Amino acid sequence: MSDLPLKDVSDLSEDEARGELEQLAAAIAAADQAYHQNDAPEITDAEYDALRIRNAEIEGAFPELVRSDTPTGKVGAAPAEGFSKVRHAVPMLSLAKAYTDEDVADFIERGRRFFQKDEGLEIAFTAEPKIDGLSASLRYENGVFVQGATRGDGSVGEDITANLRTIADIPHKLKGSGWPETIEIRGEVYMTYAEFQALKERSAAVGGQDYVNPRNTAAGSLRQKDPSVTASRNLKFFAYAWGFTTADPAPTQFEAVQKFKDWGFAISPLMERAKSVEELIAHYHRIEEQRSSLGYDIDGVVYKVDQLELQRRWGFVTGEPRWAVAHKFPAEQATTRVRDIEIQVGRTGTLAPVARLDPVSVGGVTVVNVTLHNEDYIAGRDSNGLPIREGKDIRIGDTVTIQRAGDVIPQIVDVLLDKRPADASPYEMPHTCPVCGSPAVRELNEKTGKEDSRRRCTGELVCPAQAMESLKHFVSRGALDIEGLGAENIELFFSKGLVKTHADIFRLKHRRADVQQALAERREEQARAREAASGKARKNVRSVEDRNYEGLDKLFAAIDARRDPELDRFIFALGIRHIGETTAAVLARTFSTIGELRAKGIEAAAAGGGLHDVFPSVNGLGDTVWEALRDFFDNERNVEAFDQLLTEVTPKDYVVTISADSKVAGKTVVFTGTLEKMSRSEAKAMAERLGAKVAGSVSAKTDILVAGPGAGSKLKTAQEHGVEVITEDEWFERVGKS
Ligand code: IVH
Repeated sequence: MSDLPLKDVSDLSEDEARGELEQLAAAIAAADQAYHQNDAPEITDAEYDALRIRNAEIEGAFPELVRSDTPTGKVGAAPAEGFSKVRHAVPMLSLAKAYTDEDVADFIERGRRFFQKDEGLEIAFTAEPKIDGLSASLRYENGVFVQGATRGDGSVGEDITANLRTIADIPHKLKGSGWPETIEIRGEVYMTYAEFQALKERSAAVGGQDYVNPRNTAAGSLRQKDPSVTASRNLKFFAYAWGFTTADPAPTQFEAVQKFKDWGFAISPLMERAKSVEELIAHYHRIEEQRSSLGYDIDGVVYKVDQLELQRRWGFVTGEPRWAVAHKFPAEQATTRVRDIEIQVGRTGTLAPVARLDPVSVGGVTVVNVTLHNEDYIAGRDSNGLPIREGKDIRIGDTVTIQRAGDVIPQIVDVLLDKRPADASPYEMPHTCPVCGSPAVRELNEKTGKEDSRRRCTGELVCPAQAMESLKHFVSRGALDIEGLGAENIELFFSKGLVKTHADIFRLKHRRADVQQALAERREEQARAREAASGKARKNVRSVEDRNYEGLDKLFAAIDARRDPELDRFIFALGIRHIGETTAAVLARTFSTIGELRAKGIEAAAAGGGLHDVFPSVNGLGDTVWEALRDFFDNERNVEAFDQLLTEVTPKDYVVTISADSKVAGKTVVFTGTLEKMSRSEAKAMAERLGAKVAGSVSAKTDILVAGPGAGSKLKTAQEHGVEVITEDEWFERVGKS
């Protein structure tokens, strides 16, 4: 997403809103993927929330633009496929936070005031480490562990019983006696540094994935479909609270947790009781001193009212108990030296500067790299030379303070100028892509007139750093939609050198033996990685020859079936910047043939500047699109790759055939709600092709309303006017899939 200030939602044009929603959907999906699938968050929780809030605001103002893949309503901690949901009998709450001693004093003071009528009442507190892991709720019935769940959104979590059973600190049957008939024990699942390090090493040995931090790795380990993988991760668990129970475990928090210990749970050895702010803070500092030698991440100290009777009386505010607070540690910091600044070219062509550091340990994790975001950040000034808030003037050789807060990636907080070497000169960002040599440019944002803060490689189809991503996009669902050739296979074929360009995809069938071998090798590797991760020897691996290779014929057939794609799909599949599905459809309608689009693109590139001397003025297509198209054709190597592709593929001409005999010819149609099989513009184009007129609002003149889920006022109006209302499926039945 751009770093530019956002417009007020009420000032957005429909086009801007559509564009932003497209970007937001992609950014949120990428963040979800990084967090949930890769367990390697790339943005902070606050940044993530900001994206979702902005998305919801725009959707609220432009309900007709809500995308079929809208992130709204999908819970952040989306239950992973395969886990059923569990509604917590008592919600799993979060904790209010305290950052300073005053915040803690305020907390105690609030308690005193609340209970002031009780003369002589002494409020006691417990103080214990705040473990940086994942909370889990474990239901015991008659002393037997029957169900375990993640926190989820606090009300509904995922059923991960089988995985939790593999954790040694969690008893399958409670020990001792005196447990309530039913009780949900709550606590934190976490991973020690030693275990984290060992897993990283095991993974590196088999060329597997890297793991970012213990917390996210613990999260990933708990979401495994195969409990033996969870078991191999040696997770730990501390019990510190409870949810639903048929009887209080004890009259006080402290005694309750001691009971948990008797029943067979691990509890934090650092829990103590205290009566005053001074005692609490003193214990906070004792825990802080031990922090680096505990062997696992903690990020603060939790204070809780000890007497359960007082907890009940003091009660809750939205989602938090009033009777507890988390006193957070300041983010851990360390000082180190910037050895070098290197440029990584991202999958979308962004040049991302990274500082290589002298390795330094921050909160149990060794940090060797830190992102430098973009050249303005490194310079500490924007392109107009004005100082920017987060920027630092970072130079090779500088000594810097870095910090790591929880699961957020490390960042530079300060440059120690008195330690700067005399010969350190300001860093110069390269103006060509270090991977493919194409020019790397900062684009002008037409809306703000400012340069984008990031530099981007212009070698779209030819830059190896971008090629794989571009190939994945090419075969993906909204694009050519080649069945059986998903992102994983593209990665594989790309890494084996079988597919380097888009055209190569259509030539795969000539390399059948190599494809077969690559697939076989991957299966073998996956089996080996599973073996390494679980520590168990493989059972009986089916030999590669046993496999049935009908699958390959199917794959090649699926590829061949896409040799004459719809023009709009093909244009979208090219993955040219700023040309999403909607824009691709408009371009297809504008140019009608791929030859015409190519000709105009080349002409614009040759002309340089003057976009509208070449390109027509089209409603809905701004200069950003035209520039992107021109820049694409301005790169000879892109053109070469494009032409190669056209030797394999012949996109259909976009013909507006007004078929008078279609069942919808001459009718006025309105689309509303979420369409699941086609984009709005596709729907419009299809209806027009079939001779229908598409209107934006419903009136007595409307003949058909195609209403998807979430249809609102238009549906109501249609019903009032007696307009025929059909579903998207019924629409397809009527027009035949065309
Ligand atoms: S008590 C009713 N105690 O912190 C209060 N929580 O910010 C329930 N956490 O979701 C929580 N260590 O995952 C409590 N010693 C501790 C904790 C702890 C870590 C986590 C827990 C919770 C989050 C709240």
